[in-house]
Amino acid sequence: MSLLEKINKNNVPKHVAIIMDGNGRWAKKKGMMRIFGHQNGVKAVRASLEAAVKSGVQNLTLYAFSTENWNRPQAEINALMELLVDTINGETKTLNENGIRLHTIGNIESLPEKCQKKLQEAINNTKQNTKLNLILALSYSSKWEITNAVKNICNDVVSGKLNKDAIEEKTISQYLNTSAFPDPELMIRTSGEYRISNFLLWQLAYSELYFTETLWPDFREDDFFKALIDFQQRERRFGMTSEQITV
Ligand code: FPP
Repeated sequence: MSLLEKINKNNVPKHVAIIMDGNGRWAKKKGMMRIFGHQNGVKAVRASLEAAVKSGVQNLTLYAFSTENWNRPQAEINALMELLVDTINGETKTLNENGIRLHTIGNIESLPEKCQKKLQEAINNTKQNTKLNLILALSYSSKWEITNAVKNICNDVVSGKLNKDAIEEKTISQYLNTSAFPDPELMIRTSGEYRISNFLLWQLAYSELYFTETLWPDFREDDFFKALIDFQQRERRFGMTSEQITV
């Protein structure tokens, strides 16, 4: 029985978020430059997309570039941006063939113009797809996102668009970049690091967390399926007792 067959199709997480980590270490182990790791990371992105479509996951968020990543050596940043543009250029056709719609979250205006342009083109060219939302987190950090949400909420309260007494948890969610998507039910991080790293802090409140030692460039469909199977074996209590959720 394949791993895919072991997945209960009625209990697939609606949204999976991934911290793709370990590209640099993967390259170093091979005596190569860090960018070689990122280039091979694209294979893992492709594999994850295929696995998400095959298993019926409807939303997949990938942490591709964090606000903190701007502190990396300029050559690595440039190479990553170029890789992003090349990948988007090369993959839009495949996204359309597989019913995948591209979205972004993060401070997109801080990306190089060329990058923004290519992203916008791919977003427009995949708008009609409905099978899977691919959400790329780019120049993203959760504290940045929450700070912006607070500012926008304040502005709307001051201008009278929003009543301060009507602010509830749902309101906060609506002001985040992810307002169009359900919260992730599963968060995967590769490379044996056990951190959230400023990723979707609000949205991950009740997510199951899955950590694997596999370095991102080695991550393949079966690794994705293993994470889903692990997710399905967990009991999600949302603060209740075990008895309450089984009756
Ligand atoms: C983390 O590994 C990875 C990144 C910061 C970049 C991820 C980018 C890609 C996989 C390629 C492009 C993606 C798309 C969606 C087109 P690291 O460099 O932090 O590795 P290390 O912890 O071993 O140093």
